[in-house]
Order: sequence, then structure tokens, then C-alpha cells
Amino acid sequence: MEKLYYPHLELFPNARIKSMDEYEALVQEFEKDYEGTWAKYAREKLNWFKDFEQTLDESNAPFYKWFVGGKINVAYQCIDRHLDSKKNKAAIIWEADNGERKVITYLELYKSVNRFANLLKNKFHIKKGDRVVLYMPMIPEAAFAMLACARIGAIHSVVFGGFSADALRDRIIDANAKLIITADGAFRKGKPYLLKPTVDKALEEGCESVEAVLVVKRNNESINWVEGRDYNYNELIKEQSSECEAEIMDSEDPLFLLYTSGSTGKPKGVQHSQAGYILWAQMTMEWTFDIQDNDTFWCTADIGWITGHTYIVYGPLAAGATTVMFEGVPTYPDVGRAWKMIEELQINQFYTAPTAIRMLHKLGADEPKKYDLSSLRILGTVGEPIDPAAWKWYYEVVGNGRCSIVDTWWQTETGGHMITPLPAATPVKPASATKPLPGIFAKVIEKDGTPTPIGEKGYLCIVKPWPSMIRTIWNDNERFKNSYFGECVYEGKPVYFSGDGAMVDELGYITITGRVDDVINVSGHRLGTAEIEGAAKKHDAIAAIAVVGKPHEIKGESPFAFVVLKENQESSNEELLKEVNEIIKEEIGAIAYIENLVIVPDLPKTRSGKVMRRLLRAIAKKEAIKQDTSTLEDPSIVQAIETIVKNS
Ligand code: PRX
Repeated sequence: MEKLYYPHLELFPNARIKSMDEYEALVQEFEKDYEGTWAKYAREKLNWFKDFEQTLDESNAPFYKWFVGGKINVAYQCIDRHLDSKKNKAAIIWEADNGERKVITYLELYKSVNRFANLLKNKFHIKKGDRVVLYMPMIPEAAFAMLACARIGAIHSVVFGGFSADALRDRIIDANAKLIITADGAFRKGKPYLLKPTVDKALEEGCESVEAVLVVKRNNESINWVEGRDYNYNELIKEQSSECEAEIMDSEDPLFLLYTSGSTGKPKGVQHSQAGYILWAQMTMEWTFDIQDNDTFWCTADIGWITGHTYIVYGPLAAGATTVMFEGVPTYPDVGRAWKMIEELQINQFYTAPTAIRMLHKLGADEPKKYDLSSLRILGTVGEPIDPAAWKWYYEVVGNGRCSIVDTWWQTETGGHMITPLPAATPVKPASATKPLPGIFAKVIEKDGTPTPIGEKGYLCIVKPWPSMIRTIWNDNERFKNSYFGECVYEGKPVYFSGDGAMVDELGYITITGRVDDVINVSGHRLGTAEIEGAAKKHDAIAAIAVVGKPHEIKGESPFAFVVLKENQESSNEELLKEVNEIIKEEIGAIAYIENLVIVPDLPKTRSGKVMRRLLRAIAKKEAIKQDTSTLEDPSIVQAIETIVKNS
């Protein structure tokens, strides 16, 4: 059997879960009294304005409700409740691209968030339930804006700053947003870049719901200004009071929307609620990251993704921790940047994506050795499967063979970690997410609920509802039901299917094998192949296109396109790739760039016209074709495409 890596227990004297026996006992506690155990944690961890009456309402499954009747405010949970004991503790340490730092204490955070909240209320008349879109760089104001929305009960929808104007517009329209909060731009690799022009472009058509644009001045580059629509944050904020009462929110009121890709073209507005989300954000900080009072926690995600929401802003602050927020990139001014930050800030938990780990490994395998990284106790990874080679380098070189690695599996929809090692308990097998957290009933099953045999691939499902789960897809309850509860049943009931495949080993450990739907994972970014195809089809010469994922050394996966040209059209693979990527940049953003493109005479289709994507995936990987091709309309097409790919 493969070697297991045991925790160095001396690093975790105050761990909440200290051994696998303690882990099993907690799992049992949830098995015996599911609702009672969740209720116990909810009462112990959250500051309620009014206690809840019912722990879980399953009467309208899968629209589950948690902590029904409870009243709470997430900003209060993240800030106010810490003021008695840690008002001058660093809440956020922000490091700019150029190395400049700002330390924001809990008291300062309280004041900044309140001023922001007052600005939203007084100037823009934002009320409970209104949607506010954030299109922001990694600056403290982004966190203030999220928490200000939470404070007054507005629903934020953060759109990743790498998305194009078209993608931003779709999200603004779907959410019917009243206000956009953005910045002139920020800095990356020593140079200013702009965000505001993308907002201007997005607002050119169809965003009637938008009343104003609030602009934070970060780099003071010159930008277009629409009088009566655009407002200068830096000026207006000065007039606001630093006291703002927290809105009393119901447990189930929406907290935020975050759009993510599914297997059809249109992104899904994943809707999270208040109490359940913040409870799990906080508990996973304690269980997975062993967060302690004097710790400094650094998650490198962008706030435009769920990891940035839960593990830069909400989780660390709810836990009263110090969270690091970084504007720049880990390779600027050189590949030692991240290690230098860890040394200087004495980071205790470092949380990043396998793509970053592979890149830092490739560009500077020995670089971490030049720095004192002895403050580290936990190294986290998230977003995509990590390969054993990257895992070992992370463990041996970055962690110096002593840190616990937590390979955390979760999703935008799950709100927080689901399957992960526990740093002071779980013996770890490289590249396995190991076991579900206590309270999470994750199973690898067949569609009918029978357990998938050990060592075989099955469907990764969560068979009981959990507090931080997605509540619905904004404006689309049917799609919510069909996307997540339409595929797998367990003990006769529809259960949450993640879209991922997984395998269980003889230890009961779960290893994620990747998406089983038409979603690909490029550098930890989730992209629907249908979205990329939809954008590419706007090219005049393209009659048909199929995009699949191909393994990529650094990015994990990259998009590979098979294109059929319209009659009488001509192009070369290179020329068409360039043109198509121009369109993708406009429609989605550079993160969705196609890496390889081949022009083919036709796509492999069944007689009923369905494109056989599995075949294309095998061809893109240059694997031998094992599938039966006799059901194809034209079986000879497979060999023709294989030859084209081989010669490309
Ligand atoms: O395929 C899984 C992969 O990322 C997907 C979720 O993407 P997103 O909603 O963007 O959230 C990413 C950050 C939580 C999953 O369906 N994924 C996430 N974590 C892991 C992973 N794949 C393998 N191992 C992981 N630890």
C-alpha cells in the first residue's frame, strides 16, 4: 500500500479534532442525532439576535431550510462580536502588488464597513434584498463592500475581474442589480491595469436596473466618467458615519449570489443563505485550518471565486482570525514572492491551488529553501486534483516535511469544505481528499444509490442536506432541481450530485477523479464547454464546434476545440485559433482561451446526431480509441480526426 503521511502532532497542541478516534466520535454524533448536533454547533458558534425554532425544514426538498426562524447578521458575526476581545487585532493584512502593506484592525474594519454600509443606504438607497454587483480588484475595499452589503442585507454578486464586459453584463442582467461597485483598476506585475472601462462597456446595453456605479480610486489612471451615474467612493466615503446598525436578517435570507459554470451555456447564480453559510465557513476554519488566535492565515484566491468569499473574507473573519489579502501575483517581482511573504508575515496556514503549486515548482523548485518558512503548520490545496508530484514538492520543500497538507474538496455550491484531511488527525495519502468532514455525508455511488465498488469510479454525492449548501439558482428553481437533484438517488430519495467522479479506496478515502459533466477545470477555474462553444460559434466561418478538456502540465486542463467550417470557408488551425480567442476574450475573458484547435471534416456523431465527446476527449489526449464506434453515423471520421490531431 502507498505510504501514509502522519501529522506532526507537536504543531497542533490546541487542535479541535486531535485524532481519528475523535473524528469518528464526531461522525457518530452526527449519525445518531443529525439535527441535534447541527443545532448544538449553530447555538455554540453563532451570535443569534433571536434563536431559531426549527433546525432543518425538509418539507419542500430539495429547497432545504436551516435554522428556521433564527435572526442573525453575518457582518455582526464577522466583526462586531470580536470587538470586546480583539478590537486592535489585525483583521486584514493587505499587501499591494508593490509590496506596500496595510494592516486593518477589527475596530478599523468595523468603521470602514459601517461607513460603506451607510454610503450604500444613504446615497444609493440600497435596501435589504437589493442586488449589488462587485467588479473589483484585490483591495481591502472589496472586502468592505461585501461586508457592507451583508450588514444592510443587500445581496452581493462578485464577478471575477478577469471576466469580459459581455460576461459581466449577463450577470448584471440576470441578478437585476441596482448598483455596481468597481475600481478604476489596480496594479499587476508593477503595472496599472483597468477595470472601469469593462463596466462602461457592459452597461452599454440592456442593464436598465443599474442606477449607479461606485468607483474606488486605486491607481488613479484616467477613466471615462458618466456624470449622474458614476460616483467617486474616495470622496463620498469621507462624509459617512462610522456607526451603522446591522440589519436583522432571517437565517434563510440570501447572503450572496456567485455565478458559476454549468454544463449548459448560461452561468448559474448560486444562491447562498446567511446562517448556514457563515456557520460552516467558521467551523471549517477551525477544523480544517486549526485556526488559533495568534495565527496569520493566507488564502491566495481572488475574491471573485468562492474560495475568496469563504476563506479570505467570511470564514477567517467569522473565526476572528487575521486574514491576508494580496493584490499581486506570486511570481512578481520574482518567484520567491509568496515565500518572502510567508517569511515576513509569519504565515501559519497557506492555501492555494494546484496550478500555482505546479507553476512555483516548475519556476523555482529550490526557491522555498531560501526563506524561513518555519511558521507554517498547514498547507492547503483546492480547486482541482493535485498530482502526486506537485503534492510531494509542496510537502517536502515548502512544508519541509512537517506541515500537514489539506487537500480540500468542495465547490461554489457547497459553500465550504466537504472532504478534506484534518491537520492533526488524518494520515494522508498524497492527492487524496481523504474523508468527509463530520456532518457531511459524502458517498461515491452509482446513479441508483448502490455503493461503487472500491477502486472504481462512481458519482460523488452528498446524501444529506448540510447548512452551507446552495439554496437555489437565482431565478431558476427548476434548473436548481434538475442540475443537482435530478441524476442520483440514495435510499429512494434524490440526493445532491456534485458533477464530480470519485473513487473510494480500502481505507475509505475518497479521491476525486474530476468532472463527469461537460465542465472543465482550467487552472482551478470552472468553465462550461458549452459556454466556450457558444462564444466560438459567433465566428462567421464556424459551422460546428466541440470543446473538450485536455490534460495540461501546469493548468491541469486546457480547452481543445474541434471545428467544422461552413461550406466554402477556408482557414488554418493557427489563424482560426487566433480569431476565435479574440471572440472568447470579448465574450467570456482570457481565462477561457482555447489552447488547441483543429479544423476537421465533421464531428463524430451518433445516428441521432449526438456528438460523442468521450471519443474527442480520447483523441485530444492522443489515447488509443477503446470505445465502440459502430454506432457512429460515419465511423471513418474517427480515424480522419486522429490523423489531423497527430499532424497538428
Ligand atoms: O471538480 C471539482 C474541483 O473544482 C470543482 C468546483 O469548482 P468551483 O465551484 O469553482 O470551486 C472551486 C473551489 C472550491 C469541483 O466540482 N475541485 C475542487 N476542489 C478539488 C477539486 N478537484 C479535486 N480536488 C480538490 N481538492
